[in-house]
Amino acid sequence: MTSKRILITGAAGRLGTILRQSLAGRFELLRLSDIVPMTATAEGEQIAPCDLADAAAVRDLCEGMDAVIHLGGIPYETGWSEMLRTNIAGTVNLYEGARHAGVDRVIFASSNHATGMYPNDRTLTGGSPPRPDSRYGLTKAFGEDVAALYAYKHGIRSLCLRIGSCLPKPDNRRALSTWLSHKDFVRLVEVGLTADYVHEIVYGVSRNTRSWWDNSAAYRLGYEPLDNAEVYAAEVESIELKAELARLYQGGNFVPEEFTSRREWLG
Ligand SMILES: NC(=O)c1ccc[n+]([C@@H]2O[C@H](COP(=O)([O-])OP(=O)(O)OC[C@H]3O[C@@H](n4cnc5c(N)ncnc54)[C@H](O)[C@@H]3O)[C@@H](O)[C@H]2O)c1
Repeated sequence: MTSKRILITGAAGRLGTILRQSLAGRFELLRLSDIVPMTATAEGEQIAPCDLADAAAVRDLCEGMDAVIHLGGIPYETGWSEMLRTNIAGTVNLYEGARHAGVDRVIFASSNHATGMYPNDRTLTGGSPPRPDSRYGLTKAFGEDVAALYAYKHGIRSLCLRIGSCLPKPDNRRALSTWLSHKDFVRLVEVGLTADYVHEIVYGVSRNTRSWWDNSAAYRLGYEPLDNAEVYAAEVESIELKAELARLYQGGNFVPEEFTSRREWLG
């Protein structure tokens, strides 16, 4: 089935804004939803404010949609009450709304934090069982199971993206492994909108030389990332070195001013 009418939750957020710009004008309808105010700016866009915690409102929100890209939620660690309300109830409400509306597929923004307690010398796949590193990561692991319930029981195709670090460019050593470029993020979502799957969990990561994740499941679905964090390795090492020097000396951030490499510092 070709998706023509697409709902994006969390559309006002960082990833939602990237997607909105890339998908504008390409579908019959792009329904953009968030809890914060937004304005339609392109042909085919429709603004639909909604609190994901409101089950009845989410049910209305999903009406008439072919596909949902579920980005809405809290993307950082916080207390249980907000996690339960937004990430747990919000995701259940979304899938239940999708079921009532007969939605064909849901792309769920999971997170690498669903598997954050694996040591970084382990190579993981989308089949690696969750080892959440936080309440936040636990809500994402839960979301992956909600996706499985609605995929296998109710026939909603579900692609869960364990997103790494979706940034303009990697800005620390960890991100050399976890970076997902904006363009590769869009490429992965495009795969989610078109590929044939029932329930899949893949990593949202570019083709990084230092990746901790074997993303062959995503490649099988047709994902072809074109970016590699390694291009930024020297820049990142310089940032890391400066932070290390600033920590070592009483002068803090003034100390590393002239040094761009470890060799320069050590003389
Ligand atoms: N950015 C990343 O690198 C990254 C990494 C891993 C996972 N993710 C996941 O991707 C998704 C998008 O991330 P982001 O970086 O764009 O985050 P973001 O905070 O910029 O966007 C999330 C959006 O969800 C909305 N939202 C929050 N509570 C809501 C509610 N109750 N009802 C409706 N909308 C609500 C917010 O207003 C916000 O616009 C999140 O689910 C996040 O957990 C992102």
